[in-house]
Amino acid sequence: MVAAVPSVPIDRVAVVGAGLVGASWAVVFARAGLAVQVHDAEPAQLPRARACIEASLRALEGAGLLREAVAEVLGRIGFHDTLPAALAGAQYVQESIIESLPAKRELFAAMDRAAGGSAILASSTSAFATSSFAADLAGRGRCLVAHPVNPPHLVPFVEVSGAPFTDEAAVRDTIALMARVGQSPINVRREIHGFVLNRLQWTLLAEAYRMVAEGVASAEDIDRAVRDGLGRRWAFMGPFEVGDLNAPDGLADYLGRFGPTIEKIADSRRGAPLRLDPAVTAALHAQLRARWPDSAREQRLLERDRRLLALSAHLSPVAAPDVAPDAVPSSARIKVSKSPKKMEIPT
Ligand SMILES: NC(=O)c1ccc[n+]([C@@H]2O[C@H](COP(=O)([O-])OP(=O)(O)OC[C@H]3O[C@@H](n4cnc5c(N)ncnc54)[C@H](O)[C@@H]3O)[C@@H](O)[C@H]2O)c1
Repeated sequence: MVAAVPSVPIDRVAVVGAGLVGASWAVVFARAGLAVQVHDAEPAQLPRARACIEASLRALEGAGLLREAVAEVLGRIGFHDTLPAALAGAQYVQESIIESLPAKRELFAAMDRAAGGSAILASSTSAFATSSFAADLAGRGRCLVAHPVNPPHLVPFVEVSGAPFTDEAAVRDTIALMARVGQSPINVRREIHGFVLNRLQWTLLAEAYRMVAEGVASAEDIDRAVRDGLGRRWAFMGPFEVGDLNAPDGLADYLGRFGPTIEKIADSRRGAPLRLDPAVTAALHAQLRARWPDSAREQRLLERDRRLLALSAHLSPVAAPDVAPDAVPSSARIKVSKSPKKMEIPT
């Protein structure tokens, strides 16, 4: 067993796997002032990753979200053909290779051999539990998941999830590192399939899929409900905060009013496991292609990142100016008539 990870400030990190997510992680760490060593098993990927990192830094600069010159940030990032060269001196490693369990197992074994004794080894995996790829390693105490949202340099959320064998110090230091580099970390306190974010995302997607299959609404209208409805608030507050403001006496009042309906909707799906139907999936896909042909994909990705950048600038405490508090009529100033404590939507 490798000794417990010491709580020292982390200023040297490695990123292993320089695809979409790895290149974005390099931006996150380097813009925060850390030295970053990038490695990819495919040597031709390194210049592509460098170009992508530079483009991301230029976009951040253009939005007023970079404190230094692009060249200065880029100068902190090194690119390496071999794993040991990238891991040399690294105090924290962010693995971001393809989502394959055998590949992650093999790589974590190699990283455990090559990394310095106190380095934390973190995976960007979207779904694999730490115990599924690190349980047999001598250094398993320093292994964990730090799952980002793509692209992490524009979406700050990270969920840190260790196995029962992961040292508490490794979890604590990873959360501290993420907060220090400007991310928004949470601790997933026990191993659970899909972690927190994807369980929420895919629970919503499952209900959306069922409603399309049942003819309740079109895919376009369900996208509209989230984009123009739920998502407007979700960009800056979570579902508990939303509930807390949606009833005069806060969350308990909200759950008191809508609890029976929430329970009824949850119960209506109990005992009916979701099975994706190839015919429904094909119809859904066709609806989306009718809205956006494949040829528009590149442009839509650029547009997504442009909007994420604008949203980051809007939500950043240092960038866009806020609207003056009295420029918008506040619903908090509207007198609320207290309605009956229990409300149900008639079925
Ligand atoms: N794309 C997303 O939306 C997203 C979001 C959150 C987390 N993730 C997770 O991040 C990880 C990376 O995803 P991605 O979308 O960046 O994938 P990607 O395919 O864009 O990049 C993976 C990179 O890893 C390299 N690679 C493969 N095996 C390697 C090895 N053994 N050593 C070094 N490099 C290797 C590949 O050459 C490639 O450049 C996955 O685990 C994924 O589940 C992805």
